[in-house]
Amino acid sequence: MKVLVIGGGGREHALCWKLKQSPLLSELHCTPGNAGIAQIAQCHGGDAVEVARKIGADFVVVGPDAALAEGVVDRLKAQGIPAFGPTQNAARLESSKVFCKELLRKYGIPTADFETFEDAEMARAYLSDRDDETPVVVKADGLAVGKGVVIARGRKEAVAAVDEVLGVARATMPDAEERIVVEEFLEGEEVSLIALTDGETVVPLAPAQDHKRVGEGDTGPNTGGMGCYSPVPSFTPELHEIAVETMLKPTVEALKNEGIEYRGALYAGLILTRGGLKVIEFNARFGDPEAQVILPRLQSDLLPLLLACAGASDTPLSQTPCEWTPDATLCVAMAAAGYPGEVRRGDTIIGLDEAESGGALVFHAGTAQRDGVCVTSGGRVLGVTALGRDFLQARERCYHAVEQIRFEGAHYRRDIGWRTLNAEGGARSAE
Ligand code: AMP
Ligand code: GLY
Repeated sequence: MKVLVIGGGGREHALCWKLKQSPLLSELHCTPGNAGIAQIAQCHGGDAVEVARKIGADFVVVGPDAALAEGVVDRLKAQGIPAFGPTQNAARLESSKVFCKELLRKYGIPTADFETFEDAEMARAYLSDRDDETPVVVKADGLAVGKGVVIARGRKEAVAAVDEVLGVARATMPDAEERIVVEEFLEGEEVSLIALTDGETVVPLAPAQDHKRVGEGDTGPNTGGMGCYSPVPSFTPELHEIAVETMLKPTVEALKNEGIEYRGALYAGLILTRGGLKVIEFNARFGDPEAQVILPRLQSDLLPLLLACAGASDTPLSQTPCEWTPDATLCVAMAAAGYPGEVRRGDTIIGLDEAESGGALVFHAGTAQRDGVCVTSGGRVLGVTALGRDFLQARERCYHAVEQIRFEGAHYRRDIGWRTLNAEGGARSAE
């Protein structure tokens, strides 16, 4: 089977790496790909649907949210090419926060209290009545690569945040409507739980914990994600069950009830508050870097699972194996100078072979090949992942690999997994 993966980040490198192991695969292609993906797949430029047609793809796996929101799955279907990922209409669960929040409210799925506004004026008027002490979250409606969200400390910051989030949203999606969500600030530990679904069956994958802020101790601006690990010991089997039964399954059901068949990856961004588990957001895709820690733990073949979601397999999703290793994974994102702001590109990366020969998986994100040399070409440059028999071993191996790699201006967080490290370190010293 000829498979085309759309995207060029660490998530897509992890997808390609895992798909490459499938006995069902004959050829692996990617568009646009990156320097790491190019070592295991044929990379192509140009329009994704054109690429799929040109190479005669049997199946397409869509990685990024922007491609889903633009309707690439619908365009592929119109050409008779099956694809993994929700249609444009179903992907509104991520591409419109207003749509997502209203769906959650209508079907009683636990989430932060919120109000939605049609324009900046109305949002500002509402916020001007608030006090200066209660934090509040201001979000632009559309996709904004994790940057359309401001956690304001009170009224003044919240009023200013309206223009800020709209500015980001305008820069990302100039034609989108300028709606705003204002929501209650929730405090707690976040967990990403991604499920695969064919619109009926919901198969949860292993949970992961991402670190979204750029700085150690979870400080500084939000990013796409600076590092991840799986499993997440604090996300107990009971919480897992609550998330699946009261959040993931009811959301697929709710969409169905609205006449929307959701097929693909359904990513629940969850937060464990004092008042219980709540949904912060849904994404319509695999997380990045979440995919980089989840896929290396998946023991089963990924391709039949993705085919079943798309309805392109004779075996239904409910009967397709999905087995996990108990081993732990940890991934550290190495970012370019300036990330998450304006980034510098073109710096030579060294030490990749050394990191890999020690057993780590080095997933490329913003990398390119120039004159036979691997150079930086994006914000998050590499996702370095290691497996270990437990969290501590995975963490140690991962940071050892990260230390082998160098490029000018490289920065990364040294505290990925700090919550589990504190809990496990504490447990060990008490032994
Ligand atoms: P979103 O794009 O909605 O996922 O928001 C990005 C990040 O902002 C989330 O992963 C959280 O870390 C944070 N965030 C969003 N909404 C809230 C909220 N209501 N309370 C606290 N933090 C939030
Ligand atoms: N790592 C967060 C995301 O993929 O949205």
